Amino acid sequence: MGNSQLWCTLLLLLAIQGKVLCNVYQVGDLHAWGIPTSSNPQIYTKWSKSHNLNIGDSLFFLYPPSEDSVIQVTSESYNSCNLKDPILYMNNGNSLFNITKPGDFYFTSGVDGRCQKSQKLHVSVYGNGSYVADSPAYGPAASAPSYPTVFGSIPMQAASASASASSLLRIPVFVSAMAGIFCIIAVIAM
Ligand SMILES: *[C@@H]1O[C@H](CO)[C@@H](O)[C@H](O)[C@H]1NC(C)=O
Ligand SMILES: *[C@@H]1O[C@H](CO)[C@@H](O)[C@H](O)[C@H]1NC(C)=O
Repeated sequence: MGNSQLWCTLLLLLAIQGKVLCNVYQVGDLHAWGIPTSSNPQIYTKWSKSHNLNIGDSLFFLYPPSEDSVIQVTSESYNSCNLKDPILYMNNGNSLFNITKPGDFYFTSGVDGRCQKSQKLHVSVYGNGSYVADSPAYGPAASAPSYPTVFGSIPMQAASASASASSLLRIPVFVSAMAGIFCIIAVIAM
């Protein structure tokens, strides 16, 4: 029994690591990926400013695949709305862009005219670990190791996360659930 509890603890710690290392962010939150409305023309600029992205995170673009697409472009093409020769072209309606290295990433719609209407996104990802997702709510605590208080803080974190919480897909929740299932199996196997 003691042994299986140890495994549970290890799996839980792994799940917590997963939470820290890989979040999936829905671009534009509830507005998803589309031409900004006239009431919120700078939605993607604001979105980018309010999300600190890290290596290991993914950008999730949601849009009707028959009407739209997403392309990754150079900064020059981003500024001039040049849709030719994109770095990456995605059009399946729920596209995941995985951040695997630091740098600046530029996206726009592959549909003519939409870039000019500000359907474009620029994100900066730093590789030095000084930017932590959701950090404004935690301040100095964000840089401290989180595991000693993690059992108490998981629900709090979910509740206190900013307005984007509704659309931030928390894959790690799934990971935790998997860990839980493994724990149950481990206990039964004992
Ligand atoms: C990002 O990762 C997901 C899951 O591993 C994969 O389905 C998707 O194709 C990847 N995206 C790109 C642009 O490679
Ligand atoms: C991390 O990188 C950013 C951008 O390059 C820089 O502004 C920041 O000062 C760096 N932080 C540390 C701790 O090096």
